[in-house]
Amino acid sequence: MTNSNASRVSTELTEAQIAVHWQEQELIQPPAQFVAQANLTDPAVAERFSLENFPECFKEYADLLTWQKYWHTTLDTSNPPFWRWFVGGLINASYNCVDRHLPTSKGKAALIFVPDSEDESHVSLTYQELYVRVNELAALLRDFAGLKAGDRVTIHMPMVLELPITMLACARLGVIHSVVFGGFSGQAAGQRIADSQSHVLITMDGYYRSGVPLDHKEKADIALAEAASEGQAVDKVLVWRRRPGQYLSNTPMVEGRDYFVDDLLRDYRGSRVAPVPMPAESPLFIMYSSGTTGRPKGCQHSTGGYLAYVTGTAKYILDVHPEDIYWCMADIGWITGHSYIVYGPLALGTTSVIYEGVPTYPDAGRPWRIAERLGVNIFHTAPTAIRQLRKAGPEEPSKYNHRFKLMVTVGEPIEPAVWYWYYEAVGKKQAVIVDTWWQTENGGFLCSTKPALDPMKPGSAGPGVPGIHPVIYDENGDEVPAGSGKAGNVCIRNPWPGSFQTIWRDPERYVATYYAKYCKDPQSKDWRDWPYFANDGAVLAADGYVRILGRVDDVINVAGHRLGTKELESACLTVPEVAEAAVVPVADEIKGRIPEVYISLKPGFSASAAIEAKAVAQIEAIIGKMARPKAVHIVPDMPKTRSGKIMRRVLAAISNSMSLGDVSTLANPEVVEEIRHMVQGEEPVAVKEAPEDIRRFGDE
Ligand code: WT7
Repeated sequence: MTNSNASRVSTELTEAQIAVHWQEQELIQPPAQFVAQANLTDPAVAERFSLENFPECFKEYADLLTWQKYWHTTLDTSNPPFWRWFVGGLINASYNCVDRHLPTSKGKAALIFVPDSEDESHVSLTYQELYVRVNELAALLRDFAGLKAGDRVTIHMPMVLELPITMLACARLGVIHSVVFGGFSGQAAGQRIADSQSHVLITMDGYYRSGVPLDHKEKADIALAEAASEGQAVDKVLVWRRRPGQYLSNTPMVEGRDYFVDDLLRDYRGSRVAPVPMPAESPLFIMYSSGTTGRPKGCQHSTGGYLAYVTGTAKYILDVHPEDIYWCMADIGWITGHSYIVYGPLALGTTSVIYEGVPTYPDAGRPWRIAERLGVNIFHTAPTAIRQLRKAGPEEPSKYNHRFKLMVTVGEPIEPAVWYWYYEAVGKKQAVIVDTWWQTENGGFLCSTKPALDPMKPGSAGPGVPGIHPVIYDENGDEVPAGSGKAGNVCIRNPWPGSFQTIWRDPERYVATYYAKYCKDPQSKDWRDWPYFANDGAVLAADGYVRILGRVDDVINVAGHRLGTKELESACLTVPEVAEAAVVPVADEIKGRIPEVYISLKPGFSASAAIEAKAVAQIEAIIGKMARPKAVHIVPDMPKTRSGKIMRRVLAAISNSMSLGDVSTLANPEVVEEIRHMVQGEEPVAVKEAPEDIRRFGDE
C-alpha cells in the first residue's frame, strides 16, 4: 500500500486515468456589492494559509473562539494519522455558541423556527432564551438522566428548535451527542444506539411534513428492540412533544422508561449549569456515515478543532456576519446541519433559520416566501432541492422580493444548467454562489471558491479553501497534473482542524479507508507522508479548480443522502425468499441518483409482485423511506464473474441504458440479455451517456 512515488508527477497515461470529456465553463465574477461587504477580501489569505505556514495558519480560526484555557500546541502529529489539534486547550462549545453572545446580543434571534404549515407562525428564539433553555435541559440531562462528560447520547429528532437545544445542552456537559437523521428508520437508529453505546435516547412524539402529522415516537420502540438485540440496553427515553402537553404519537409511553421532557423540565426552571471545560481533543459528537462494508461508520469529531474550523469557514466561505439572516435548508441530522445550521452560525452570533418542512410544500414558492418574510440573505441548499424547485416552479422566484447576497450548493455535483437557474432565477444575478465540496468525515468545507476573491465556475467546486491543499493521485500514487483533463482520486495533502478524529470504536477502519491507500511511509510521523484519501473521483483544472465526479466506492448519493449499497442489499436479504441482491444507482433528473434493486430468489420460489413489495418494505423499514428503490427486478440469476462475484457494473449498465461492454468473460453471459430484456423490453434501447460515477460503478 505504501508508494514511494506518490509525489512524482506522472507524464504517461495509466489505465486508471480515465479521460473526461468536459467543457470548461466560463468564469463569473462575484457581484461588486457582495465584495464590498465581504469578510474575506484580502488576497494575501493564500499566502497566510500556504503549506509553508501550515499548521500555524489555523491559529487564525482558533482565535475566533473563546477558550477557557488557551492551547499550547497547534498540531500534534506524534501518532499519525490520529491528528491532535490545539493541544492543551480547554473549551466549551455551548459557551461559544450561546453565553459569549449575551453581553452584546441577548435580545437578538439566535434561531428562527419555521413550521411545516404556512398557517402557523414562525417562532424566534433569542440568544437569552436559548441560554435559558440549554441550561435547563443540561441540568435535566445531568441530574435526571445521570449523564456526564464522555457519555454518549443518541438523538433521533426532526427539524425543530428542541434539536439544537438538545445538542447544545449535551455540549455544555461534555456529553457526546450522536444525532441520527429523523427520516432514518427505528432500526437504523437502533444500530447507531448500539454502536455508540448510548444509554439514553432523546426523541420526539411526532412532527409535520407536507401537512401530514407523522408519528415519530413509534420508531423509538423499534430502535430500542434493535439496540437490545445487539446487546445495548437503553434505560431512559426522553420524549419531546412537538406541542407540549399534547401527545402526537399512538405508541404508549413505557412506564419507568419513557418521560416527557416538557413535564420533567418543570423541576429545572431557572437552573444554570456551568459550561464544563473540555480538552480541545475531547469528542463533541459522532455522526454516522454510510460506507462500503455495510456497517455505518461513526465519524468522531473533536471539540476545539471542529468548532474552530466550522467557525472559520462559516465566516470566510459562507460570509456570515452577526447581522445576517442565514438559512440552510439541510437537515440538522446530517453533517451540513451540524456544522452550518448549528455550530458555525451560532459561534458567529448570527441568526440561523430552521425549517420543519419540505421545499415544495404547499408549492414551489414556499422557500422564496420564507426568505422574503424573514429577510434571509444567505441561502444554503443542495442540487436535488434546486432541481426540484426549478422543475415545479421555474418562474416562482421572480414573484418574490427576496434578496440573497450568497447562495450555497452542497452534497453532489451540480449540472451547469441547474447552476445557471440558481444564479439567474433564484439569485437574480446579485448573489454569489459557493459550490462547497466536503464530507461527513471532514467537519467543514474542503473545496470552494472564496466568495469575494475567486470567480465562480458552474459545475466546479473550486480550489481548496484556505489551508486545504488538494491533489489528485492515480491508482499508482502518481500525481495527475492539473489541466491534464484526466480524472483520479482526490486527496488532501495536509491535515486540518475540522477533520474527524477516528471512526468510533474502529480505528483500524479509519486508517484503512482514508489513509492506507496513499500513505508514503507507515512509520513516518510527518504529516506530509499521510495524504487524506477522500474516496471521491475528481478532475483538477489548470486553474486549480476541482470538479468532483462522485464516489469511487459503492455508495449511492440519493438526493444528498449517502446510502451504502451493501446496506441496501442486506435489507433485501432479510426477505426470506431472497437469495441474492445487488443494488445499482440510476441517474435521476431530480434526485441525482436512485437505487435500483436486482434480486434472485431461493429455489422453490417464483417471482411475484408481493416479493418485490416485501423488498421495498424492508428497505424502508431498515434504512428509511428516502432509500425507496426506483424498481425491483427479480432476475433468474445474477451476472457473475467466474469467481462468483456479482457484476454490478453490468446491472448498472442495463439500468442506465449504457453500452454493456464485453460480457463474454462472465460465467453466465446468457443471463445478461435475459435481464436486459426484462428491464428494457423487446428492442435494445438507445445507448445513453451516463455520468462518470455510474460509468465507474462496480469497477474493480
Ligand atoms: C459526498 C459526501 C458534507 C456535505 C453533505 C454530504 C458528495 C458533497 C459535493 C459537491 C460534488 C459533492 C461527494 C462526497 N459531495 N458535496 N459540492 N460537489 N459532490 O455529506 O453524506 O458525507 O457525502 O457527497 O461525493 O464524498 P456526505
